[in-house]
Amino acid sequence: MTQHSVVGKSIPRVDGLDKVLGRTKYAGDLSMPGMLYAKALLSERASARIDRVDVSRTTSMEGVVAVLTAKDVPGLGRFGVIAQDQPVLVGEGEEVRFTGDALALVAAESQQVAERAVRFIEVEYEELPGLYTIDDALRDGARFLHSDKPGNVCLAAEMRIGEPELALREADVVVEETYNTSRQEHASIETEAALAFVDGQGLLNVHSCVQDPYHFARDISRALGISMNRVRVASPAVGGGFGAKLDITIQHWLALLAMKTRRPVKMMLTREESFRLHPKRHPMRISIKLGASRDGKMVALQAKVISDGGAYTGRSPTVLRVNQMALPGPYDIPNIHVDSRAVFTNNPVSGAFRGYGAPQAVLAREAAIDLLAREIGMDPVQFRLSNCVRDGQKVANKFVMLDSPISLPQVANKLTEAAGLKPVAAGPRELVGRGVAFDMPTFDIGVFPGIGLSGAGATVEMLQDGSVTVYSTAIEMGQGVATVLTQVVAEVLGVDVRDVEVVLGDTNAAPKAGPTSASRQTYVSGNAVRMAAGNLRERILERAGKELEIDARDLVIEGGRIFPVDGSKPGVELAQVAALCFQDGISLREEGWFKASHGALQGHTFMASLADVAVDVLTGTVTVKKLVCSHDTGKAINPLGVIGQLYGGAVQSQGYALTENLLCEDGEVRTASLTEYLVPTSLDIPPELTAVIVEEASPTGPFGAKGLGEHVMGSVPPAILNAVCDAVGARLTRLPIHPQEVLDAIQRNA
Ligand code: MOS
Repeated sequence: MTQHSVVGKSIPRVDGLDKVLGRTKYAGDLSMPGMLYAKALLSERASARIDRVDVSRTTSMEGVVAVLTAKDVPGLGRFGVIAQDQPVLVGEGEEVRFTGDALALVAAESQQVAERAVRFIEVEYEELPGLYTIDDALRDGARFLHSDKPGNVCLAAEMRIGEPELALREADVVVEETYNTSRQEHASIETEAALAFVDGQGLLNVHSCVQDPYHFARDISRALGISMNRVRVASPAVGGGFGAKLDITIQHWLALLAMKTRRPVKMMLTREESFRLHPKRHPMRISIKLGASRDGKMVALQAKVISDGGAYTGRSPTVLRVNQMALPGPYDIPNIHVDSRAVFTNNPVSGAFRGYGAPQAVLAREAAIDLLAREIGMDPVQFRLSNCVRDGQKVANKFVMLDSPISLPQVANKLTEAAGLKPVAAGPRELVGRGVAFDMPTFDIGVFPGIGLSGAGATVEMLQDGSVTVYSTAIEMGQGVATVLTQVVAEVLGVDVRDVEVVLGDTNAAPKAGPTSASRQTYVSGNAVRMAAGNLRERILERAGKELEIDARDLVIEGGRIFPVDGSKPGVELAQVAALCFQDGISLREEGWFKASHGALQGHTFMASLADVAVDVLTGTVTVKKLVCSHDTGKAINPLGVIGQLYGGAVQSQGYALTENLLCEDGEVRTASLTEYLVPTSLDIPPELTAVIVEEASPTGPFGAKGLGEHVMGSVPPAILNAVCDAVGARLTRLPIHPQEVLDAIQRNA
């Protein structure tokens, strides 16, 4: 085993102190002299034709500097990562398709004036029939929300392996169920904010909390008809993203206002606007059928998936495909048929949310597997383990090549060890239950075509005093990538972590790192900075070798000093060598570019979760008593950071399972505040929350690390669902698990 000095250590987060002391500047904290305040007029209808937008009463208002409508939008006027079908502003004669569509923008000298001014804009709507459920959208004769998408189908995709129909007919045991999942809201602490201005060189600068600066620059440039090299997107600290900040919400508006007014313009969304504007986790209806032989071998999986994509394409196609590929999970199932559709409705746009379509799949599969195990009479853990894919076999997800050992048995063992005994009921009013779920989560490795996931670059520079700057467009949004990149570079260059500064998120400072999504940045940017720092290290050692008259290969860097491995000479300060390189005109700046080259499109790992719950038989309330998450993360570069991700994701999963549901009625968000939309609070965290890290090294990850950020979101919700089913002795099929449904289930069973 190689000894590392920084990698593998739980160092404090490099961004931690500034955050806890309130010194960190978020986009909403930015201001500039002469700055204007912007407000958007959002549609009051979810489905209507716009007959008239009259801004005449607003333009003359004191303090109003600009009022823009669709007529003022240059370029394509539309945006979107996959299909550019979402309008920057909806104009007269056009349709609004959800309550996040905007009709006009106001920029004013103060926030108050901007807010008042939008109320004086007069809009005439001609109501159109709305499609508010997937059944509305798929009904024969339903009108098409997009004329080029017949039947309101955004994407239909099929996966077929073997002979599933035949296998199900011949199976000894077949279970069948339909699961419905909720529209989950990211509820990041920071709502969307942006400050845009045109600088002295005529470049459009957009400072905003975004998860993919290069994608935003591209989308803004296309929507507004300016070349990409004239758009700079820089992301300051991000106060939570979870996928919500992967796509444009307000940044195009600020860009447009800055171009038109030639003044800095800022906008920060209220919580209610934020709930309306950014994409949500897709609600899905998954009908699943599983077949097995009497002795417990799974033989077939059949599923029909329909997702509510909302009003525009957004990321529905890729989310649906990830969902489909995630369905079979870690199991060896020879016959599979999955029929998936994403449909348009007049609801908020659905998009990326931690897990990107996989959690819905894992929920349906792991809940159905429990039914199957029970039907056969096998222990749920044993049943899962005996069906797990083995070394040398292939998984159904054709994007994955099993390049790391199958660690699920080890992951499951650790889970069982950490779980202890099932709790006993505290009294007659309580029912207790235990549930488990297994998963094979995936992560992006930099070769996925199309949406910016292909490759990641980073720059590492040593300055003449020996200090180091890392430039990357990876985004620190609370998940810890700044710390991980710091540790990797400090390890390779043999310097103290305090001598490494990480500059993130600026398209004018760093190469494309692709989105900070898909659990990818530790892997892709970790590899990129490792390569850059490695090349830099070689060059530095070469110069040091010349100085010390020792072969560079016999030198090491440690603690900021370069010396021979055998200790035969005292060596030299790294800073001294950096200064020599500076004098000699030797470049101390390196760019690394990483793109996986081992044949797969996705990395994979294994995870298992366990939940113990107590159910109140009088109220139907579910209390999570214990959550255990066991995760093969590969080498944990910062174990404390890994545990933080697992804890945070476990609690977010608990919210998904039990309380979180963005209610939309007739396309309108009905739970548009954090008093109505219930994310777990510190009081809801289970009294026992355990994260177990299994470190089966990835052969291609930096120091053996794998992706991990989203993974916990897969197996925890079904573990909780299975635990509640175990407690009440009945099937539950809907997230969030509603107390009334729990009571009904208890009643059915009585
Ligand atoms: Mo994530 S949902 O891939 O930001």
